Amino acid sequence: MELFPSIVTERLELRLLANSDADALRRFRSHPDAVRYLSHQPLTAGQTDRLLADLLTRAERSTAEWFHFGWAVVLRSTGAVIGDGRTWNTAEPPLPGSIPSRSASLGYMLHPDHHGKGYGSEAAGALVRWLFTERGTHTIYAGVYEPNTASRRLLEGLGFAQDRYFTADQDTHGKGLASWRYRLNRTGWTLTADG
Ligand SMILES: CC(C)(COP(=O)(O)OP(=O)(O)OC[C@H]1O[C@@H](n2cnc3c(N)ncnc32)[C@H](O)[C@@H]1OP(=O)(O)O)[C@@H](O)C(=O)NCCC(=O)NCCS
Repeated sequence: MELFPSIVTERLELRLLANSDADALRRFRSHPDAVRYLSHQPLTAGQTDRLLADLLTRAERSTAEWFHFGWAVVLRSTGAVIGDGRTWNTAEPPLPGSIPSRSASLGYMLHPDHHGKGYGSEAAGALVRWLFTERGTHTIYAGVYEPNTASRRLLEGLGFAQDRYFTADQDTHGKGLASWRYRLNRTGWTLTADG
């Protein structure tokens, strides 16, 4: 796997997930309020460990073109891992995925103790910038369940627009909720970003 530096923002550091993040991941991936609008139910410790191992393998196999990275969101003031993010254009690097190579998907979550302080926007904004400026991404997609107001406002604040609507019947993750796919093009982002 290629080496790349972590991303530092005003209050956060985003770096690739590591085995040492297992305890932190267990704390929020098992939390009902954190996973309510994610594609899975609260995870057991074993399930979280398998998820982490899977993400590490995918990062390891990533190439310049086809990638799948999991990020630890670290609060710089304390060093605590308060959430995780994901950027990917294929589920199984280096196999091409269903997403064109110049497009990518974005995911993010924080432990509920850290919601509502702007950390989500700060972390997601940093990953958007990284995808556009470091990975040559042209279009970023993010899927959001309709009732997830915080995530929808976060995306809209970063300039994302609604791209496609999926009914509750079309939900493949067993949550039975309608969802939106949001989209942000690099050209639109350049116009609104601060640099
Ligand atoms: C989605 C999530 C990352 C947002 O992070 P956050 O740090 O709490 O959000 P921010 O403080 O950056 O706020 C982003 C926007 O959402 C709004 N918001 C935050 N919490 C909200 C809530 N509970 N209800 C409604 N709006 C909310 C903020 O006011 C802000 O909007 P504004 O800029 O128009 O004022 C966080 O709620 C989370 O981790 N949720 C659980 C996991 C999840 O759902 N991930 C996304 C899957 S698509």
